[in-house]
Amino acid sequence: MNLKINENGNMVIGNIDVNEIAEEYGTPLYVIDEERIRDNYKRVFNTFTKHYNKFRILYACKANTNLTVMRILEEEGCSIDAVSPGEVYTSLKAGFAPKKILFTGNNVKDEELKFVDEQDVLINLDSISQLERLAKIVNPENYKISFRVNPMVGAGHHEHCITGGVMSKFGIKEEEAPEVYKKAIDLGFKPVGMHSHIGSGILDPKPFKLATNALLDIAANVASEVDINFEFLDLGGGLGIPYTPEEKPLDIDKFAEEITGIFKSKTKEYGLGTPYLYIEPGRYLVGDAAVLLTRVNTIKNSYRKFVGVDAGFNTLLRPAMYDSYHHIAVANKGNNREVEKVDVAGNVCESGDLFARDRPLPKIEEGDLLAILNTGAYSFSMASQYNSRPRPAEILVKNNEVEIIREKETYDDLFNKQILPKRLQN
Ligand code: LLP
Repeated sequence: MNLKINENGNMVIGNIDVNEIAEEYGTPLYVIDEERIRDNYKRVFNTFTKHYNKFRILYACKANTNLTVMRILEEEGCSIDAVSPGEVYTSLKAGFAPKKILFTGNNVKDEELKFVDEQDVLINLDSISQLERLAKIVNPENYKISFRVNPMVGAGHHEHCITGGVMSKFGIKEEEAPEVYKKAIDLGFKPVGMHSHIGSGILDPKPFKLATNALLDIAANVASEVDINFEFLDLGGGLGIPYTPEEKPLDIDKFAEEITGIFKSKTKEYGLGTPYLYIEPGRYLVGDAAVLLTRVNTIKNSYRKFVGVDAGFNTLLRPAMYDSYHHIAVANKGNNREVEKVDVAGNVCESGDLFARDRPLPKIEEGDLLAILNTGAYSFSMASQYNSRPRPAEILVKNNEVEIIREKETYDDLFNKQILPKRLQN
């Protein structure tokens, strides 16, 4: 995220001083930049379609399921990667046509398959078990499906975020792919696609290139054994964004050229026609489009210097869960050059609730406003009410305008759906 500081040393997003937003709506608070989402989408779409025009972007909405964020992407022409019936439901609610949604579940139960089928959404199957069960739920005759395969390439910013290779629970084994497609056809289904996803938070183009080669090899192997016409081949998501100041962004022009290059030459070599090329970015589209604003309430000089803030891992889990780096800026002191190393600690009652250790930051005082950057993806969507803390509000900014797109929860929201048995009610 490009930090913009105004003449008073205050951080600005969408032309608006975030200190004013924090003042008005309170903290903690997610602030989302609409233009950044649109720019991110356009950048990927334009670079890929320069090289191959049968191209679609399926937004991996698990990254951020706010309806406004999803509407913005829908307006841009985006499609959807949904991994649960709830995400399918949310996508429909956000205005995506069923034909623009691909459902890729794992360990899906029958009632979920039924639900997704009723929404008229294409199902991307992840196991032979799902195929056999779907055959009993729907009439397979000419019913379109696709399969997720394991391309035996995996990468990601953390072990938990690697989804290809022998340790992965996802996808069909590559050597079983031809017989699975054959089985589907024998049951009457019409397989039209193949999908893989290797992991998340990848800044190195190499594993993507390997995976593209692998997916096309598997598709060709299937096509050589069964009668199939692939309408699409889906390379999944995983495109990383820089979180640390040292990391360099993906060279998206070069990336698009290389991936489409492999795609075009291999589809030609194998006689696979001209299927649609799908990719499923989540983080790349929304990750750098938001900041989390949190106010410093306590400075404690213990054995270490702790800067205590009013957000915690219930608000932003990534640092505690993956040891992820999120850059932190002092949003009201952008011009302060007096730096000291501090630990930035949240307000959850656990020692692991830290946003940063030994982080050099401009000298901080109680009352200062911190902006935790690059919190548009896997941030609010992974937030919880742990420690009985209501989830924060979300704000959208665009050209000097500030709109609230999710109200902060109240204490009463903590009891939503709870039922106190009558006998305990006095
Ligand atoms: N497609 C599928 C099938 C996926 O499972 C995922 C992410 C994506 C696409 C999008 O990946 P992306 O482009 O956003 O890297 N909570 C973790 C990330 C988990 C990603 C899970 N699957 C984090 O905070 O880093």
